[in-house]
Amino acid sequence: MLVLGIESSCDETAAAVVISGRQVLSNVISSQVDLHAIYGGVVPELACRRHIDVIIPIIDEALKIAGKQLKELDLIAVTQGPGLVGALLIGLNAAKGLSLALNIPFIGVNHVEAHLYAAMMSHSAAITFPCLGAVLSGGHTALVEIRAIGEYRLISQTVDDAIGEAFDKVAKILSLPYPGGPYIEKLAAEGNPHSYPFKAGHVKKLPLHFSFSGLKTAVLYTVKEISITGAQLSHKQRCDIAASFQLAAFSDISKKIATASELLGSKEVLFGGGVVNNLALRAFLKKRIPNLNCLWPTVELTLDNAAMIAGLGYQRYISQASGDFLNLEAIPGLTW
Ligand code: KG4
Ligand code: ZN
Repeated sequence: MLVLGIESSCDETAAAVVISGRQVLSNVISSQVDLHAIYGGVVPELACRRHIDVIIPIIDEALKIAGKQLKELDLIAVTQGPGLVGALLIGLNAAKGLSLALNIPFIGVNHVEAHLYAAMMSHSAAITFPCLGAVLSGGHTALVEIRAIGEYRLISQTVDDAIGEAFDKVAKILSLPYPGGPYIEKLAAEGNPHSYPFKAGHVKKLPLHFSFSGLKTAVLYTVKEISITGAQLSHKQRCDIAASFQLAAFSDISKKIATASELLGSKEVLFGGGVVNNLALRAFLKKRIPNLNCLWPTVELTLDNAAMIAGLGYQRYISQASGDFLNLEAIPGLTW
């Protein structure tokens, strides 16, 4: 089946053409980073306007790169949620319009679930279910039991900031550009992770849940304390803070993944979301939890993209043996 995927949940407009859930023919992403960078975060109104401007050209480009025409498509898959409501509507309505005009089915997909499916697309070997899924993105941090594709049990999630959000906020405190994850990773590589005793939060009675807002505040107070005398943070201090922040965040994630895997009795962990781009995280987990088989998505499938949407859309279509109705609504808070 030739599937067109469309993604517009936040600040990336993306389209991709994928054969039968796995073979990616094209994967086009138009990032809006330049548009939002000066505000230090995504401005929803600006995001929507840009989505409207680029969505049709991006779909055209995805088809062109794939060497396919609209009339050859069998299915349209689109992000239904979670995300910014205005942004979701633009992708959803483009998908509905194409579905109606081409007389082919369309299907809505959960964006967070698609981040985990990206790891499945990237590994040809069969995955043994049940296994653990870890979503580490800008908007979400969650551990889920994956019983099968489309069958999940939420184990834990963040009670405040998502891990990527914490990276972005710490980057802002250190006057780094947005999105700050890759800049923190770069600084941290030069720093001593044992310089500052940062710790991620512990959620009372919910030991597997995440809390990163206290960690971000600890970084803020450390920077304020250094700056109180009017002194500028030295390069070494910034590197040490970034490294100590990463160590605190990664230790927390690693411990919770180890415990959750033990509870599930599973040795496989599927990772998804932008933060899994962080190579220091991958190296850290390899060292701390060597007995677990960590399955990472390929680089093109880690950040927001439409190939993962097309892939998961195909799987959903096959399992429910039909598409969705045209009155399908965008769900900004879509959960598991
Ligand atoms: O998955 P994603 O594209 O967006 C959401 O669905 O939320 O993830 C974006 C997030 C941003 O917070 C960004 O700072 C973070 O992923 N990120 C990283 C790295 N690359 C991207 N965080 C840490 N280290 C990185 N190398
Ligand atoms: Zn995402």
